[in-house]
Amino acid sequence: MANVVVVGAQWGDEGKGKIVDWLSERADVIARFQGGHNAGHTLVIDGEVFKLSLLPSGIVRGGKLSVIGNGVVLDPWHLESEIKGLRSQGVEITPDTLMIAENTPLILPIHGELDRAREAQISVAKIGTTGRGIGPAYEDKVGRRSVRVADLADDATLELRVDRALVHHDALRRGLGLEPVDRADLVAKLRAIAPTLLEYAAPVWKVLNEKRKAGKRILFEGAQGALLDIDFGTYPFVTSSNVIAGQAATGTGIGPGSIDFVLGIVKAYTTRVGEGPFPAELDDADGQRLGERGHEFGTVTGRKRRCGWFDAVLVRQTCATSGVNGIAFTKLDVLDGFDTLKICVGYELDGERVDYLPTAADHQARCTPIYEEMPGWHESTEGARSWADLPANAIKYVRRVEELIDCPVALLSTSPEREDTILVTDPFAD
Ligand code: IMP
Repeated sequence: MANVVVVGAQWGDEGKGKIVDWLSERADVIARFQGGHNAGHTLVIDGEVFKLSLLPSGIVRGGKLSVIGNGVVLDPWHLESEIKGLRSQGVEITPDTLMIAENTPLILPIHGELDRAREAQISVAKIGTTGRGIGPAYEDKVGRRSVRVADLADDATLELRVDRALVHHDALRRGLGLEPVDRADLVAKLRAIAPTLLEYAAPVWKVLNEKRKAGKRILFEGAQGALLDIDFGTYPFVTSSNVIAGQAATGTGIGPGSIDFVLGIVKAYTTRVGEGPFPAELDDADGQRLGERGHEFGTVTGRKRRCGWFDAVLVRQTCATSGVNGIAFTKLDVLDGFDTLKICVGYELDGERVDYLPTAADHQARCTPIYEEMPGWHESTEGARSWADLPANAIKYVRRVEELIDCPVALLSTSPEREDTILVTDPFAD
């Protein structure tokens, strides 16, 4: 039986929600392995809209086990309100349908405050974060001063963990002009929320390995996109976790050999939210049109997304670093009606052609895109369910993308509706 990892292969917002939902129906277990409530998925099921940030998409489908792995940073109060909201929409959430890894680090209120205070003060290198405390929570994880889910079960341990964190945070806060942390209030809040979390706490690594041995299908649901990866993204304008497919193993506790298929989600053009380099960004009417037709506004922060032509250089790179076996190509219909389309096929750097995005910031800044032009199409591709429904130029565009990124299309999505999908290769096939 196959286990599938889904990763965003650009800067996030590639349309993962629909694809993950489509795949969750075929899976027994759906696991998140990185990020936190900086992600935002909107699922439309039988006309009803479900908004998810932290919980795996499988939660809205009955009879599945949803898992939050240790690679996630978890805001307990956000979790509580997301669970409450979904329950009010009739979604059943019990310890049989949701498990949280005991070794998951928590996002505390001080992390959000720190994230926002830094973004407000640092004018030289503003990242444009979601302000949800993701970065500071991961800093505490590698700094070995996190409060983790299991720590909530014992009062003495909890106080010890809080003290360890506050030695660091109070010093930092003094420097930023923030008040010291109210220790008693933080401990009281954590004690109050503890039962809600502990109800779902489990040794996720063990459960997943048992499921795998029993032949269950596991879907690993990535958040954000590979260009926001802490190691391989456009650092420092990245999120603070590893986003690439290898993280599915370390972020849940299964071996890398248990991953059978990596599906990269790729949008037919490029967008990014927040600051940072974006070589193929369009600051003209074409960019405006992509944003309007694609409804490119952030689900979490409501920010307008920056838009540009498809950048094959970047996607070839992310397909390589995640070992993508096939892509799900989304939002092709947004390109309907353009006379001419452009694809970025390389960069010019100081008079030389380069075929990858260099790491040095000054090199990135001097990279100018080299475009290949292709004829567009005027027919609608929205809702196409087979290749025969697509105009010839749309098929040529898809085929050229496959060549340029050196990876085949496994799925083609032509509208937000689940059924409007052309299946080429089933990632879960044996
Ligand atoms: P953080 O993850 O809140 O620290 O934000 C760091 C960067 O990642 C910012 O540029 C955010 O806009 C971006 N980011 C975080 N989560 C998402 C997402 O789910 N989609 C797109 N961009 C994201």
